[in-house]
Amino acid sequence: MKNKKIIEVNNVKRYFKILNRQEGLVGAMKDLFSGNYRTIKAVDDISFSIDKGEIVGFIGPNGAGKSTTIKMLTGVLKETDGTILVDSYIPFRDRKKYVANIGVVLGQRSQLWWNIPVIESFKVLKDIYKITDAVYNRSLKLFNDLIDLKQYYNMPVRKLSLGQKTLCNIAASFLHSPKLIFLDEPTIGLDVSIKKNVRRIIHTLNKELETTILITTHDIGDIENLCKRLIMIDKGKIIFDGLTSRFNRTFGALRTLRLDVEQVNKTLLAEIEEQINSKFSCKEKIVVKKGSDNWVMITINQDELPLLDVLNFTVKTYAVKDVKIEEISLEDVIIRTYEGMLK
Ligand SMILES: Nc1ncnc2c1ncn2[C@@H]1O[C@H](COP(=O)(O)OP(=O)(O)O)[C@@H](O)[C@H]1O
Ligand SMILES: [Mg+2]
Repeated sequence: MKNKKIIEVNNVKRYFKILNRQEGLVGAMKDLFSGNYRTIKAVDDISFSIDKGEIVGFIGPNGAGKSTTIKMLTGVLKETDGTILVDSYIPFRDRKKYVANIGVVLGQRSQLWWNIPVIESFKVLKDIYKITDAVYNRSLKLFNDLIDLKQYYNMPVRKLSLGQKTLCNIAASFLHSPKLIFLDEPTIGLDVSIKKNVRRIIHTLNKELETTILITTHDIGDIENLCKRLIMIDKGKIIFDGLTSRFNRTFGALRTLRLDVEQVNKTLLAEIEEQINSKFSCKEKIVVKKGSDNWVMITINQDELPLLDVLNFTVKTYAVKDVKIEEISLEDVIIRTYEGMLK
């Protein structure tokens, strides 16, 4: 049977030893001899696998271990422990051969040479990676069809905007038509129209050429538009791995109950809030706010308190004209999850 898995990560750890610095010049001298190190567990025993042709979002708060994982997967860093197999290569050990099979886009770093026109950089990459004419031309055509890449060919990289540079960088990472592309924060700092282009490229590479894509991002649009599956990491450990559509349910038993009530004002909101909180005792206080449409918004954690109980109570107590129940958005769930992690 053909193995569908293209990435296999088993019990991988990456620790960093860093010096506990002491203050001042004398401190710096002492540091040299102190041997006073502490260990940072940047990645702490993670396992997952990714199938050919998947687009997976790799998310988590700052410092969670995303970039460290990408660096190990791309053969830049060696794992402290565990095993990584990508397309039957061991990335760090085989990195010389391996890099020809992957594409890497690191948000702020460029593959292109600053002073020479974009197309000249592409030609150099063609030579370095020994890309055949057929593959090279097919890749350029694809990017020309998608984003009219030609317009940048003769511009030196230093003259490009951040967004244009990003587009050219993605093109550069794809010239050799790799089976796998790793993107670390590709849309960071870009404006909306360029973000859309970046997503269109990623989508097309995935759909038309079955390129497997692992993307780290803080951008909810990237996640909603591209990633069917999410892996969430926190403090070096994987805390969610599954369908994006299931993420909401796992972390967000949160629902918003919206009520159309006459004359919504601060006094009324405070009163509703107090009534609900005194009637139902929840661990976390229930918050009542006014929505942009002047409706009353009550956010409830379904795991703690059935929404129907609150609905029954409010309908009996107040003159409610209409009711809506909504799931909380993916963005809100992610923000709340991160906030909980940072506490
Ligand atoms: N080269 C390094 N030396 C020491 N600590 C590092 C190094 N690289 C990353 N770290 C630490 O490892 C943790 C994870 O970092 P990183 O993988 O960059 O997180 P993320 O990309 O999710 O923001 C952080 O605490 C970071 O400070
Ligand atoms: Mg990072």
